[in-house]
Amino acid sequence: MDGNGRWAKARGLPRNLGHRKGVDAVREVVKACPDLGIEYLTLYAFSTENWKRPASEVSGLMDLLRIFIRSELEQLRRNGVRVRVIGNRSRLPADIVALVDEAEAKTLGNSRLTLIIALSYGSQDELVTAARRLAEAALRGEIKPEQIDAGMIERNLLTAGIPDPDLLIRTSGEQRLSNFMLWQAAYSELVFTDTLWPDFGRAELAEAIAEYGRRERRYGASSA
Ligand code: IPE
Ligand code: MG
Repeated sequence: MDGNGRWAKARGLPRNLGHRKGVDAVREVVKACPDLGIEYLTLYAFSTENWKRPASEVSGLMDLLRIFIRSELEQLRRNGVRVRVIGNRSRLPADIVALVDEAEAKTLGNSRLTLIIALSYGSQDELVTAARRLAEAALRGEIKPEQIDAGMIERNLLTAGIPDPDLLIRTSGEQRLSNFMLWQAAYSELVFTDTLWPDFGRAELAEAIAEYGRRERRYGASSA
């Protein structure tokens, strides 16, 4: 979800209002997913690098997250949405961690749509943690280094149990992954759109899915 700041700037508004408008886009996209056959949606809400932003912007984003969870949780639960949050929780304010735990616990039984919120998420951090866990298991003699395979790494990622993304969409014209699911996106189809995130909605999601449908996925094999 990129382009909130530019959306606001183009209108002479403070960045914070761009983020607020971005939350409206989140609501619309989450609602559209089940209708479009999407079972898993991951939103990259805040990266490990976003902590470098001015404290006022960071706290504004945290406020929006608080408001979003408090106001939407009941509706998400009733709509069959399961919420999962991935990222480094140790850096998050305690009340946000509590809210996130509550959202996960209250929606645990749902399966219509799994909404994964990547919050204080960085793929390099995630891979470092996985490597440490496997090294510690090896030191304890529980595994042998030669037993480490792709599946074992996957089970130690924050996304364990979540399928790899088929489609990865980045808005606002930037064409990079910015530390998002570097392992999991190995064979994802990438769609880059110039639309700024606050302007992204049901129609734009449907268009990205149509583009996905025109791709030929070979996973390294040949067409024939
Ligand atoms: C939203 O857009 C991404 C978040 C970190 C919430 P930006 O805040 O990166 O907007 P731009 O890139 O400045 O336009
Ligand atoms: Mg940006």
